[in-house]
Amino acid sequence: MLAAGCGGDEERPSGQIPVDSDPIAPSAYVKPLGAAVELDHALEDDAYRKRLITTFTSITPENAMKWEIVEPERGEYDFEEADRLVQFAERTNKRVRGHPLVWDYQLPDWLEDKDWSAPELREVMREHITALMRRYRGRIDEWDVVNEPLGMHGGLKPSVWSRTLGPGYMAYAFQVAHQTDPQAKLFLNELNAERPGPRARTLLAVARRLKESGVPIDGVGFEFHRTGTDAPSRRRIEELGRATARMGLSFAITELDVRDTAERRQAQVYGDAATVCADSPNCTGVTVWGVTDRWSWLGADAAPLPFDEDGNPKPAFNALVDPFLKGV
Ligand code: G3I
Repeated sequence: MLAAGCGGDEERPSGQIPVDSDPIAPSAYVKPLGAAVELDHALEDDAYRKRLITTFTSITPENAMKWEIVEPERGEYDFEEADRLVQFAERTNKRVRGHPLVWDYQLPDWLEDKDWSAPELREVMREHITALMRRYRGRIDEWDVVNEPLGMHGGLKPSVWSRTLGPGYMAYAFQVAHQTDPQAKLFLNELNAERPGPRARTLLAVARRLKESGVPIDGVGFEFHRTGTDAPSRRRIEELGRATARMGLSFAITELDVRDTAERRQAQVYGDAATVCADSPNCTGVTVWGVTDRWSWLGADAAPLPFDEDGNPKPAFNALVDPFLKGV
């Protein structure tokens, strides 16, 4: 473990994040508790960095592994930011959750603007998944392989993937991912699928069909971008856990944030999500989508995170962490 205060500016390569607080030990929690991270914030904002290092045992790149960043031109990879993030995680004893391999958003123009034939596009996908997963094999243990494939009403969302390859693109992505890193846990990640409705139903049906047909899928990610008033009940989250368990799958809460300035109500949602995950044998962890309110993708006014703009803990902090602490 790196000691507090080590590594002054003059000693570290440019852009390297100082580890100037004692990192939390992964063994402090019953399972990984993660945050989505932008390293530039960790570099520039002391409060963000301190809370990240001392609170979370897992990191998801908020953007650093997205397609337009890692493969801006076909076959030309830029892993600078992603490498920096994985190295920072290793220097602070944190695991990394990879995100995302196949999504329809933040794609480079070369990929979106062309009329691909199915074999060509399959090859593009294969090359990309292989390049990322091979680079981080043994260093990233869980990946969002297919991200947000569904539309609001539960149908397959139109995208370069679904238009060219049909629904089979999902199975193909999981197969390539498994061939590249057979040890990694492979997830289907979706938003707004926590509450009952067409998207939730379709998501579970798709996961079941993939699993039953022998596709190497390990789990379902529920993003959990919610507000204090539209969050699923604790009972509903437990149902999702049981539903995935019956299929032989894990689940994870992958992008938790709760847009609500009523702090008690917000804390309740954090607490429900964390408690159910901590108590469910098939939940692999909770990841919060950010660290402090200042840098939330929703804007600081939305105040969706467990730490306020200055890094002070809100009631959501204890609600989130307490269920994960060992021996309580
Ligand atoms: O990198 C450029 C920068 O060069 C430029 O100066 C700046 C000007 O706007 O934009 C920067 O890119 C932004 C990027 O975040 C990095 O900050 C993009 O415009 C912006 O669209 C992008 O937003 C991200 C969003 O995904 C895009 O899809 C958010 O940070 C990120 O939190 C969000 O995360 C997604 C998950 O990946 C999937 N699930 C939903 C979740 C929330 O939307």
